[in-house]
Amino acid sequence: MKTFEKNCKKNVLIIGLIFFFVSNYAQNNEQFFTGKGNMPVGTYYYPEHWPHEQWDRDLNQMADLGFEFTHFAEFAWARLEPEEGKFDFEWLDWCLAEAAKNGLKVIMCTPSPCPPAWLTEKYPEVLNVNENGIRSAPNGNRLHANQRHPEYRKYIERIVTKMAERYGNDERIWGWQIDNEPHIGTIYDYSAFAQDDFKSWLKEKYNYDISLLNQAWGAAFWSSTFNHFGQIRIPNAVESSTNPHAILDFKRYTADALAESVRFQAQLLRKLISSNQWITTNFAYYKFLPPVDPFRNRGDLDFASHTMYLLSTFLNYPEGDLNFRLGSGLELSFSNELARSVEGVTGIMELQPGQINWGQYNAQPLPGAVRMWIWHSFGLGDKFVCTYRFRQPLFGSEQTHKGIMETNGTTVARGGKEYVQAIAEIKELQEKYKASITVPASLLSRKTAFLWKMDNLWEMEASPHSQAWDTWQHWYTYYSALKTMGAPVHFFQENDNFDPTEYPFMVAPAHSMVDAGLVKKWQRYVEKGGNLILSCRAGQKDNNGHFHETLLQQPIWDLIGAKIEDNDQLPSRIKGKVKTNKTEHSWNVWGEWLSPYHETETLATYADQFYAETPAVISRKLGKGTVTYVGAWSENGTLEKEILRNIYQNAGAEILNLPEYVFVEWRDGYWVGVNYTSETSSLPIPENTQLIFGEREIQPGGVSVWME
Ligand code: GAL
Repeated sequence: MKTFEKNCKKNVLIIGLIFFFVSNYAQNNEQFFTGKGNMPVGTYYYPEHWPHEQWDRDLNQMADLGFEFTHFAEFAWARLEPEEGKFDFEWLDWCLAEAAKNGLKVIMCTPSPCPPAWLTEKYPEVLNVNENGIRSAPNGNRLHANQRHPEYRKYIERIVTKMAERYGNDERIWGWQIDNEPHIGTIYDYSAFAQDDFKSWLKEKYNYDISLLNQAWGAAFWSSTFNHFGQIRIPNAVESSTNPHAILDFKRYTADALAESVRFQAQLLRKLISSNQWITTNFAYYKFLPPVDPFRNRGDLDFASHTMYLLSTFLNYPEGDLNFRLGSGLELSFSNELARSVEGVTGIMELQPGQINWGQYNAQPLPGAVRMWIWHSFGLGDKFVCTYRFRQPLFGSEQTHKGIMETNGTTVARGGKEYVQAIAEIKELQEKYKASITVPASLLSRKTAFLWKMDNLWEMEASPHSQAWDTWQHWYTYYSALKTMGAPVHFFQENDNFDPTEYPFMVAPAHSMVDAGLVKKWQRYVEKGGNLILSCRAGQKDNNGHFHETLLQQPIWDLIGAKIEDNDQLPSRIKGKVKTNKTEHSWNVWGEWLSPYHETETLATYADQFYAETPAVISRKLGKGTVTYVGAWSENGTLEKEILRNIYQNAGAEILNLPEYVFVEWRDGYWVGVNYTSETSSLPIPENTQLIFGEREIQPGGVSVWME
């Protein structure tokens, strides 16, 4: 009991401290980005890739093209510390001076993703090991060593300290980026160090009590009971270890370890740099980098920035012949809104300037697409756009990746010209900025909280129940429907304040792990006037990923007003049917049928299978708000779209009716419309509104900007 109380006190203190830091940074981070309606555009430059004689020409040209800042040193450790303990900053000093001469601010990046050869030669044990037991090569790669390894940590500490001491009070530095897209190059690390580190994490988590771990991991199953922590190994699919609770904990550990590595550098910098310089890292939330959770760094950074490659071919594209040239606006939007939710502001640290090198194939963007991405970023409120990269490299594994400049270094590439155009347009727009503008009431009426828990993703990945289940796609189904209504989305954590007066809508798609506290919090949110939308799998499990010892999903029954009878999954050749009073929708991956026992309205029922005519979607009034439960996941998201529209309209929200992949955003008084579809589309621009750029009928790849 004593330990429990002690832990509670400790938790209260930690929560208090986190709150203090979060509110402190969040309050101040706007100050770094002066001027509303402004979005400086910059570009990466790697002086170490080019002869000294070209540096001034390049930086001069960068400024001439309209770029306002550049980005140095990210992967340059071997140049900064060519031999152990021997530092060379002269070249960087020189470039800083040259950047300043050209009026370019500088983002300084810590070089931790790339340990120099002398380091990995001396300490090969810092290198990551993949699931087959293969150790990463000592160099020729990046993100290939474990930043928590004490030997590696020591060197990171030294190089970052040196840089911070040298540049931390230098007014030419705008801010700092820690590392690059924090993740593990091998996605997970199975090295001897990681094995021990995981065990230490488990000991902390389970209070050094192996019986608690045995309980949480359901170790009674298949005789997996451990006698002590020393027996534990990282769960590894190659070794056929399939315990979903162990996998969940390992993913949590990996995300915590990554976050701790970022925090380590942030704290180091914080001690040494001026408060006028900001600290960020550039998170990438690609489906293929699963253990990254930016919220685990809440309170550590001034803001989270993000990166996006819209033609990477691994993302979602709309239907249509031009999709592979226009890219995934959905992920750009998602990435911005997620990053912004961490500390209240964000900027995009890497935005593709043209063809890339690492997609399954690498198509050319449609003329105009690069400009559209920049404008979309502007509309989404990015405080800056930085493009990757200024010059196309002549060597190395990203040789075929376009830059702003062509390979000769002096010709502006096609994408570069679109940057120049967008930069000039954004500057022109600034002249029209009106400080008196307030956020339109229509926008406030549809503000949406999206409840986000990375651990749910990992739980469902470990225990998908259907091979066709894809949590990201399920989330995107809801996110995409929200964007067709023009809803501004803010991603919430469970411990955020659920305030229905600010966020009248909350969606929590497939929120699989819930505890009683969350269910109560949802209930209070609804009673106070919130409109809560839950979808299938909600409340299936507790936070260890165990079923509750109740009937299926019973912890949420009273909230939704119905019993969830069971779930079904269909073979891909069979499309189940769900009908609303308007339309019939098909579904395939997941369907739950419901038996309401409180007063609820049935919004959709199944139209076939043995549970035909039973409810698939229900909604109920509770206090001043509503709870809606969507039991089926429709193909193409048509059901979710119809239901959400219905709920938003009934609750009095003013919503748009955009085709998927046509986005309309509001920022600092400007409305921005962009079109990623292959068809011309009509924008919802009121009569008598003067367009600043573009047309009411927006072409594929088009941009329209207007003020009301
Ligand atoms: C990013 C990465 C950059 C660069 C780029 C190429 O994901 O952060 O360093 O490699 O891809 O497209």
